[in-house]
Amino acid sequence: MRLLVVGGGGREHALVWKINQSPLVEKIYCAPGNPGISELAEQVAIDAEDLEELLHFAEEQKIDLTVVGPEAPLVAGITDLFASRGLAVFGPNQKAAQMEGSKVFAKEFLRKYGIPTANFRVFESFDSAYYYLKNTDFPIVIKADGLAAGKGVTVAQNREQAFMALQQIMQEKKFGAAGERVVIEDCLYGEEVSVLVLTDGKDYLLLPDAQDHKAALEGDRGPNTGGMGAYSPAPVFSEELKKNVEEKIIKPVLKGLQNEGITYRGVLYAGLMITDAGPLVLELNGRFGDPETQVILPRIVSDIVPLLIACAGGVLKGHTLEIAPDYCACVVLASQGYPGAYKKGFLIEGLENFSAHTNPLVFQAGTKEKNGQVFTAGGRVLGVTAWDINLKGTLEKVYEAVDKINFKGKHFRRDIGYRALKRF
Ligand code: AMP
Ligand code: GLY
Repeated sequence: MRLLVVGGGGREHALVWKINQSPLVEKIYCAPGNPGISELAEQVAIDAEDLEELLHFAEEQKIDLTVVGPEAPLVAGITDLFASRGLAVFGPNQKAAQMEGSKVFAKEFLRKYGIPTANFRVFESFDSAYYYLKNTDFPIVIKADGLAAGKGVTVAQNREQAFMALQQIMQEKKFGAAGERVVIEDCLYGEEVSVLVLTDGKDYLLLPDAQDHKAALEGDRGPNTGGMGAYSPAPVFSEELKKNVEEKIIKPVLKGLQNEGITYRGVLYAGLMITDAGPLVLELNGRFGDPETQVILPRIVSDIVPLLIACAGGVLKGHTLEIAPDYCACVVLASQGYPGAYKKGFLIEGLENFSAHTNPLVFQAGTKEKNGQVFTAGGRVLGVTAWDINLKGTLEKVYEAVDKINFKGKHFRRDIGYRALKRF
């Protein structure tokens, strides 16, 4: 089989790494890929959002399955476009991807089907939202409706922070049209868990659960990022909670989608807050998490390719998933300043210690190659990943590897997994 993976970050590196282990696969392309991915797949110089060029490439190269990493091409309708030409895609169609593409759509859907989520209100004008914020209690959470690369959410501790966030979203249009509407919702407290399922819209397979660390700084302080590290499994996610989430969240979401006439095929990612009152949905995404994927895929024993094909083709029933009992952890090495402004172009040293066949290994994200050397080229640069029989040993392995890699401005959190470690 010939596969095309769309995207070029750490998540896509992990996807290519796992897909490459399948005996069914003869060739993998990745558009645009990154230098790390090129160890396993042929890099194709097409942007992940250039749907027409991707289609042209997939037809020309007779691609059997396209696996879409990031949300933007899904929300732009890559699945519909490819399907109209008879090409198989793993990833929800445009209608289904609204679950992630519009927080207003997702929240109204959750409310309609009685799926637990924070109480919220939707505002379509700055004035009405401003008036509401003037009279409400704090903290409160303000979210831009559309895609904002994980940066459209502010947990405002006071009125001043709330006004600033609202102003950036609705007046300065920091996220463009994504900020035409805002959701303002109650602030929830607890531990976050990422629960992902593979689904063909009817049946589903629960992937290993994971916990991401979104805040930039240790102790979960500082601004939210796309994710500074993750681990799997998340010990907070007990068997009882898992059952509760399947019954109260996953199944009702899939049923609700069917009821709306939406065929959802791909990965459904529920970002949950485990509160004293039980699990509540923070967000729904139509793609694999980043960096959750980097810790989920190494724990999957089964060949993932038949599962991706079955989801895309609507025939998941009867498939099973074998998961290893190991722990897996990933620490993101970011550029100094991320998620704000940062410099790039710094030489990365130490990568020669790792390959696709080592444990620990390094999933590359914001990197560029020049004359055989790898340089920083993004906010999240690398995801150092390892797995082992217990979490403590796994984290020690990861941090030993982290210390072998250097670049100017290397920023990372030393405390990935700290909440889970306290539970042992
Ligand atoms: P979202 O993209 O909606 O998941 O929001 C990104 C991050 O903001 C989440 O992973 C949480 O860390 C935080 N967040 C979102 N909604 C809430 C909420 N209602 N209460 C507390 N934190 C939240
Ligand atoms: N790690 C958070 C996300 O992928 O949305």
